[in-house]
Amino acid sequence: MSTDTSVRSVTCQASPNIALIKYWGKRNEELILPDNDSLSITLDLTDMHSYTTVSTSPSMACDTFYFEGVLQTKLSSRMQKVLGEVRRRAKDMQNQFVEIRSQNTFPASSGLASSASAYASLAIALTKLFNLDNPDATAAYLARIGSGSAIRSVYGGFVRWSSEGECLSSCLFPMEHWPDLRLIILIFNPSKKPVSSTDAMQRTRETSTLFSARLATVNDKIEKLIEAIRIKDFNTFAKIVMMDSSQFHAVCMDTYPPVIYLNEQSKHLIDLVHAYNKTDENGAMKVAYTFDAGPNPFCFIREEHTEEFLRLLKYIYPTVDNNVHKHVANSDAKLPSINVPIAPNVLERIVLTKIGSGPKIIS
Ligand code: DP6
Repeated sequence: MSTDTSVRSVTCQASPNIALIKYWGKRNEELILPDNDSLSITLDLTDMHSYTTVSTSPSMACDTFYFEGVLQTKLSSRMQKVLGEVRRRAKDMQNQFVEIRSQNTFPASSGLASSASAYASLAIALTKLFNLDNPDATAAYLARIGSGSAIRSVYGGFVRWSSEGECLSSCLFPMEHWPDLRLIILIFNPSKKPVSSTDAMQRTRETSTLFSARLATVNDKIEKLIEAIRIKDFNTFAKIVMMDSSQFHAVCMDTYPPVIYLNEQSKHLIDLVHAYNKTDENGAMKVAYTFDAGPNPFCFIREEHTEEFLRLLKYIYPTVDNNVHKHVANSDAKLPSINVPIAPNVLERIVLTKIGSGPKIIS
């Protein structure tokens, strides 16, 4: 820690977001302008977040970046782009450098892309530290040029990222709107590192013919999803979310050479969810999945079914760690009868979390 009294610092915490309708494709690589609108849920800060401190002082001789306490030899080009934009906007930063220290409360192997929470927390901290004009829009812009999906982590609750006008994000419904909605993240044993989203979406644009069909229908889907969220219609919500996930992966498969993010475990979980959804007496949906650029599912479920579904997961994935036990009060209770094979040794971790209220500045 520096003893220099002229050092000014701002710290910000931001959490990852999970897309309900995926962002896939950029019409402008430099500014990260998306081909389509997307919609997401920002996760609760308590369970996982990035924690970024930005400091500045006249005595700093260059920009530095520490990740998880380790000094990085070079700032990534995206981070340099973000700092370049701050210098352009902040008169008092022209000849000043910054020190960035960032860490995550969740491991890189958790299946969650940390770039969204990392760039959202960095963007908000920089905006505050340099007192930039129009703070909300500026932080959103800075987060976006760091990583597209980060623009959705600058707000809590249900967030839409628009592909039109200034391509900024906005909160559609705050966290309190749907308080009994829960998320269960399943982390399967790590497989090989997938193609990055940045590269894969570029390849999709160049080669996929299904991609344009997706773009033609995605806004209609978003409007239907917003209405389902507004009236808390879980059946419609679940169906739209699962179908958008599948369509996104179909587009990836239609890319040449194909991009395949799902694996055997993902397919098994898809079967499990559909079998479980058939067990409701009234034919109602109990759980929905979505997958990003990786094999790990993010499941949405209401509080009333959470305990039962966790018990089912514990039964189907017998080797799952103890983390799940603390959420399962009555492990002897009867399980719904479903015909899906037991899969030992595939699930590494389960994270139970909920919607969050958005980033927090700690000065
Ligand atoms: C599949 O935001 O990681 O998670 O803008 O190139 O940094 P860049 O890509 P990134 O892409 C995320 C893609 C996704 C879908 C989503 O989050 O909407």
